[in-house]
Parts: sequence; structure tokens; C-alpha cells
Amino acid sequence: MERRTFITKSVISATVLLSSGSLVSFFSSCSKNDLMTNSNNTTKIVENLFTKTLPIPASASAVTTLNAQVTTSTIVDTPITVLGYQLGNILGPTFRVKNGETVSVTLNNLLSDINNIHWHGLIIPSNMDGYPTDIAVPGGIKRYQFNINQRAGLYWYHPHSDALTASQAYKGLAGLFIINDNEELLLNLPSGTNEIPLVIQDKRLGSNGLNYNPTMMDTMSGFMGESIIVNGVNSPNLNVSTRIYRLRILNGSNARIYNLAFDNNLSFYIIGSDGGLLQSPISVNEILLAPAERLDILVDFSKVKINTELYLMSKQFSNAGNSQGGQSFKIMKFSVNQSFNESYIIPSSLSNYQQLPTPTNSRSFILSEMTMGSGMGARMTGMHKINGKIFDANRIDEYVNANSIESWSFENQGTEPHPIHLHGVQFRITERSGGSNRGVIASEMGWKDTVLLLPGEKVKILIPFGSNTGKFVFHCHNLEHEDDGMMLQFQIN
Ligand code: C2O
Ligand code: CU
Ligand code: CU
Repeated sequence: MERRTFITKSVISATVLLSSGSLVSFFSSCSKNDLMTNSNNTTKIVENLFTKTLPIPASASAVTTLNAQVTTSTIVDTPITVLGYQLGNILGPTFRVKNGETVSVTLNNLLSDINNIHWHGLIIPSNMDGYPTDIAVPGGIKRYQFNINQRAGLYWYHPHSDALTASQAYKGLAGLFIINDNEELLLNLPSGTNEIPLVIQDKRLGSNGLNYNPTMMDTMSGFMGESIIVNGVNSPNLNVSTRIYRLRILNGSNARIYNLAFDNNLSFYIIGSDGGLLQSPISVNEILLAPAERLDILVDFSKVKINTELYLMSKQFSNAGNSQGGQSFKIMKFSVNQSFNESYIIPSSLSNYQQLPTPTNSRSFILSEMTMGSGMGARMTGMHKINGKIFDANRIDEYVNANSIESWSFENQGTEPHPIHLHGVQFRITERSGGSNRGVIASEMGWKDTVLLLPGEKVKILIPFGSNTGKFVFHCHNLEHEDDGMMLQFQIN
């Protein structure tokens, strides 16, 4: 945001805050520095050496126990304190299940805070979805059991504990959840060691641990780190051969958006996104990936000269507010150092799904920032809002009919990017207008559960609601915004 606008609004906010007793202490904890000199909150990326081998998270099957605990993980050279679902590791194991299977997970909460699990992208009953107040107490247990009944795709899991989502996910609690089905199997896509999961995150690496201590400016921009880690390791390398690889990428960062590209401008094929395969592959040279979004891509190293080193990077991008996009940086290295005679032909058609019928109802939502003063409720700050409101577990914001189809529109009237995520559904993006007119992008041609709205953008989505009744939240997946209250809920009846 422009500096002048920010200062003016801060003065207004100060007045409101000071008239509301309990918030005075919060306000005085925002340093003058934050308010007066930082018109943006850029955290510059520092690249490391790209010599550490990319680790691949362990796999988990449909029946698993996860122990949420304090542990250590070697992100650079020495172990530091993190949170994990297993000893010695940031990030949990990758679930691999088939459509139709029953999943049964026991969460042991060994933390001193409340904890739960949200299965991001899964269409499961409300009481299995990790509702913010549906938690395991410290030392407690929570059992999750649900049937998988949806398309093959890359989904993920992370805590959704009330107002603690950002801090617990940031400190290490997250993992991948892969669903396979027969339609996908028939495509014979690269698998085994040629199917590489990549969880991309940014961290502030202190010497003793992943500390989560956002300032007020971090709450505005999101908590961003100077170090990029992939699968839990800073600046890794992966040795590959001259063949086609399937990369399954999650942006598991709290707030940072990546504009993914290769440093030699190699084009790659997008074959899937949040909710599974696209209808056909789309070739691109770069693609924006917001927090919580996933990307399924095929990269053809078969025409790359042996002994080439290339980098997956994030290219500069614009129109994403003042805190993001200003820097190009490398994420990880691929060393093409073994030759292989590739014969796999990328399928021209991937998946078939029907056009959705006409929606029976529509709703619209305005995303805004810094209009403090009303409905601040239990939240510390409430600087980010949806339709002027912040989250209240005791208020249902929208009532929706089971098995109905609705069109929802979101309009970003703020100055920051907001990746909006809906629980309990997968939707289609039908239109994006405003902003820099980027329209619906390649990775948005299929099913989605999270959609990025850059400042000034308006997006329309078409949502088939299922038969799982109950409460589900929808929120900004900039996790600082979410914990700040940028979350509402709908009830399916
Ligand atoms: Cu991945 Cu409610 O979020
Ligand atoms: Cu979710
Ligand atoms: Cu947001």
C-alpha cells in the first residue's frame, strides 16, 4: 500500500484502538518503526548453496497415528527445534490412498497447546474437517475416520486450531495427502522415483528453532522468511536423468506467493491443480502459486544436455502489493547427470469432467483491510475482513442447501493478495476481472479449493455443494490473515 494511505489509516486505527481499552496494549506493542517507516514489509530471500540432497517425506497408509510434538529437524546444518508429526522431522508423512478407501488417523496431541487436523481439499463430513474449535486438548487424542470419495489429486493436511493455525503450520505441522484413482492410473504418468513431491516454504531460520513472533506489519503482509526450504531442507539439490518427471508441488508457506519458472526458461506442462487433473496439459514458462495451492506438472529433462544444472526459481511478479514479487530467487537445483532414453509420450487428454449446471443462487464477498473499529470481537486485531466481518464461531454467515450449485464472487478491495480457500468443496473458477486483467490462468482450468485474488481483482467461482451437512469455514490462506480473523463460515443443511 502507498505510504501516505497507510499512515492516514493508521491514525484512524489508533483512535479506534485507544477507545477500546483491551486493545491498547496490543497497539503499544506495535513499534513506531512499524507504523511510520515500513510502507512495505519485504523479507529478502537469502539463497544457500544447493548442495544438500532433497529429502522425500516418508509415506503413510490409510491407517496411521500422528504424534504432534516438539522435535528437531536439520533444515540447514544443525538440528533446530520445530514441530513435527514424527520424531526428527519437520513435515508429516505423505498419505497415499485410493479413491474409495477408508482413512483412519489417530492424532496424539503431545503439544502444550490445543491442536487438530484439517484435511485440506478433502470432501469429508464437517466433524472430520478440523473445525477450529473441534480440537484435541494438550495431551489429548483426536480420531479421524472418513471415506475417500473424490478425484485423484494432491491434497494436504495441517492444524486448524483456533487462532493457532499459522503458528503451528509455520513451525512444521503439515503434510501431503495423495489420492489415486483408476482414471489417473491409465495415463501411466511418471511414478516411483520419477514422481517427486515438493513442499515449498519460507522460514526465518534462527539458530535455535523456528520461532513464530509476527509483528503488526507481519500480520498485515503475512509472516515471510528469508530462507526457502523444500521438503524441509534449505536450498536443496536433486539429481535427475534425461527423462520426464512428474513434480507435485504444494506452496506450504504461510504467506509467500511464488512465480514458479526454470532459470533457463524451460517450459513445463501443467497437468493438474488443487482438485486433480486438468482436461488436457497446458504448457507454460511460469505460473503463480499462492499459499495452499497445488500444482501437478510434467517437466521434460530429456532434451536437456547431460551435466546441466538448472534451478526451479521464483521470478519477479507485479500487482501483488508492496510486500511480494519484487525479487527473483532460486528455490532448488536440478542436476541433470544421468542419461536415459525417454520414450514416454505426454498424453494429450488427461481427464473428463462435466460442465456444471447453472447455479441456483449467488453470493458476493468483499475482501478488505484496515477498516478497524467494528466487530473486532475476540480477535487481537481484526485488520482483515470478509464482508466487513471477522470470524465468530457462534455466528453462521451463510446457509447453503446440500447438493446445490452456487456462484460466489469475491472482490479484493484491499492492497494485499488474498488466497481464498473454501472447506468441504472443490470448485471451478469461471471468471477473473480487474487488477491487471490476468484472467483465469492455466492452473485454474480444473478443480480448485483455493483461489488467489491480487489487489483489485474480482473472481467468480462455481461451487457444487455436497451432501455433508454441518459447519465449514472459508478463509484467506495467508495464515496471518486467517488467524487475524479473515474467516467466515457456511452451514450446509
Ligand atoms: Cu488449508 Cu482452512 O485451510
Ligand atoms: Cu482447507
Ligand atoms: Cu488475506
